Amino acid sequence: MAAAALLALALAGLLWRAFGDAAGESADPGLALARGHGCLSCHGLVHKQVGPGYAQVAARYRGDPEAAERLAGIIRAGSVGRWGRVIMPRQPGVTEAEAHQLAAWVLAQGQPAKP
Ligand code: HEC
Repeated sequence: MAAAALLALALAGLLWRAFGDAAGESADPGLALARGHGCLSCHGLVHKQVGPGYAQVAARYRGDPEAAERLAGIIRAGSVGRWGRVIMPRQPGVTEAEAHQLAAWVLAQGQPAKP
């Protein structure tokens, strides 16, 4: 009985991941890009994992007009010492254009969605 309930929960979770995320990605190309480049294996959208949560990054640089440009560079070059002692390795697979798109997307996290 309890096992069946657990199984049902696990299945519901799997379905939610499969379909919920797919819908989220088509509505959010930045999310798809971040996932495609493996950013989300270290970064949470909101909370710290290996690296800072993207909403935390956005909150830190809110009101900083140069943040997008700087973060685009950092995303490709990697970083250490800004958030702690864990290193973000450089991301050679990310093109400059993608880095700019990712930086803008990160800075938009945790903000109310545009109408
Ligand atoms: C191996 C784990 C890892 C991966 C993969 C990774 N990051 Fe990071 N990221 C980190 C860590 C750790 C930090 C904090 C570095 C520091 O303290 O300077 C960080 C910091 C950042 C920051 C904040 C930089 C700052 O100056 O405040 C941004 C933005 C960021 N990452 C974006 C990305 C994007 C976009 C990707 C995918 C292309 C990515 N990261 C992939 C671990 C990772």
